[in-house]
Amino acid sequence: MAKQEWKSGNMLYPLPAVMVSVSDGQGKDNIITVAWAGTVCTNPPMVSISVRPERYSYEFLKKTGEFVINLTTEELAYATDYCGVKSGRDVDKFEVLHLTKEKGSFVKAPMIGESPVSIECKVEEIRKLGSHHMFIAKVLAVHAEESYLNEKNKFEFNKSRPLVYSHGEYYGIGKRLGDFGYSVRKKKRRKKQNKR
Ligand SMILES: Cc1cc2nc3c(=O)[nH]c(=O)nc-3n(C[C@H](O)[C@H](O)[C@H](O)COP(=O)(O)O)c2cc1C
Repeated sequence: MAKQEWKSGNMLYPLPAVMVSVSDGQGKDNIITVAWAGTVCTNPPMVSISVRPERYSYEFLKKTGEFVINLTTEELAYATDYCGVKSGRDVDKFEVLHLTKEKGSFVKAPMIGESPVSIECKVEEIRKLGSHHMFIAKVLAVHAEESYLNEKNKFEFNKSRPLVYSHGEYYGIGKRLGDFGYSVRKKKRRKKQNKR
């Protein structure tokens, strides 16, 4: 490989692009697509989303300190893009996209019914990093679509066909290559066959 050196920039791809639902706490709800999102701690479970202050959703986030991360799927690709190019100042994204509002257990922001996983979050800290302010939040609850639970109660998330965002383009996840730790796992010995 022959790599070119570029000036500093963002190149950490692929990423999930999530639909973050927010509320103003007085009955107005909105959705903003966020790619600058991530898990930041296992215990306690914490996540972050980075949002530009000029976004309509920013004030909602600041005011209520709450949001829901809704994971996206191939089926939700159009809605994910739409919520990332249209502002709630001009359109009601739930209405235009016919998305279902579902009530969470802890926060006022609605969950998106069509999303396979909705994560209720409570903001703990806002870091003003520059163009984006990072909302570091505690996970209050995870809601997972039960039709993806198998007979052993394992959540088969990848059956929901998760959406991937890579360098400005949307993709599906592609084929399974292994599972966690497979590189070091001992291979099961094949039973010796008696050859005659
Ligand atoms: C794939 C994708 C990822 C995006 N990621 C972010 C992000 O991480 N942070 C952000 O502030 N805006 C991001 N945006 C832009 C906002 O989603 C967009 O400006 C949106 O219209 C804001 O909605 P609002 O004005 O209703 O809050 C992204 C847009 C797309 C399409």
